[in-house]
Amino acid sequence: MISASDAISSAAFRLLGESQAIQVVRERICKLASSAAPVAIYGESGSGKELAARDIHEHSPRASQPFIAVNCGAIPENLMEAEFFGYRRGAFTGANEERQGFFHVAHRGTLFLDEVAELPLAMQVKLLRAIQERRVRKLGAQREDVIDVRILSATHQNLASLVERGSFRQDLYFRLQVIALSLPPLRARREDIPLLCDAILRRHLPLVRKPVISAAAMDRLVAYDFPGNVRELENVLERALAFSVGTVIGPDDLYFESPIRRGVIDDASRGHSISNEARPASTDSLRTSLPVSLPVHLAGIERELIQRALVQSRFNRTRAASLLGISLRQLRYRMQRLTIHDAD
Ligand SMILES: Nc1ncnc2c1ncn2[C@@H]1O[C@H](COP(=O)(O)OP(=O)(O)OP(=O)(O)O)[C@@H](O)[C@H]1O
Ligand SMILES: [Mg+2]
Repeated sequence: MISASDAISSAAFRLLGESQAIQVVRERICKLASSAAPVAIYGESGSGKELAARDIHEHSPRASQPFIAVNCGAIPENLMEAEFFGYRRGAFTGANEERQGFFHVAHRGTLFLDEVAELPLAMQVKLLRAIQERRVRKLGAQREDVIDVRILSATHQNLASLVERGSFRQDLYFRLQVIALSLPPLRARREDIPLLCDAILRRHLPLVRKPVISAAAMDRLVAYDFPGNVRELENVLERALAFSVGTVIGPDDLYFESPIRRGVIDDASRGHSISNEARPASTDSLRTSLPVSLPVHLAGIERELIQRALVQSRFNRTRAASLLGISLRQLRYRMQRLTIHDAD
């Protein structure tokens, strides 16, 4: 157990940061760690959901027991039951020996269902049953085993709207989110960026070779919106390390995945053109490096073009859609997907 003052310091946590927003998260983690109730962790991609899950486990009375993280989106549907519940020898062709499922392995510990929105409906029913009954039957077994696991789950999707659309079961939704924990995006706690940079550089390089981030480069990092949150900050710094000559990371060593930074649209709408600085996801970058992730890179380009069209059309969506050669409906859909708001 951990005292309230420890909650404010980041020493005992994986989730780093000194901002008010992250301190509130750590305090909540301390409070909810002692209970066995399920926690649903929400937050944008790369905002630290898995770290939060590990922090909850490590601050809970189950800390010395297993923490099993399962990426629900990565298991083929036909193997899910066997993976979650395990099987007896001979349960099906190829089941040559008995195998424990995730529930059995996590017994007395914590089972973290990551990307929980990806669970197929049929599996949702089976999981709900196992969670409610606290019993699991291995495939091919006669009897059920009593299992004691704490369930944590995470998703970057809006589960409530998936429930509305019928792709996520309401009963499982209520069961999972007895407690909800939301992680703030990095842009809502920019003051943590220098500290996170320091931790990331330390992780990547031995102390002696730790490069310095120039003041101008740090200004750019702090001003950037980081749609990919801390993971994107890690990517930006890793690339900068690869490009920087010598031991100082300068502004030109930074390559951002999403081009528009805070304030740029404002400038543009006041009649200035979009600055060079705000236009990195172009073919220029392709000459020097391949993108770390093609979908992220393409989303960055798409985002920039949509934002430019919005500025050019003075935020008239119909006109912006026609400038881009797409229907208004398509524009709306893309803006929603990329979370672009008119006045972003
Ligand atoms: N507050 C933080 N302090 C230190 N590192 C962090 C923090 N938040 C995130 N990170 C780092 O950022 C990366 C992404 O974190 P994590 O995997 O927990 O995010 P996520 O929310 O689960 O992302 P996704 O939705 O893409 O699965 C990890 O390398 C993690 O170590
Ligand atoms: Mg994750």
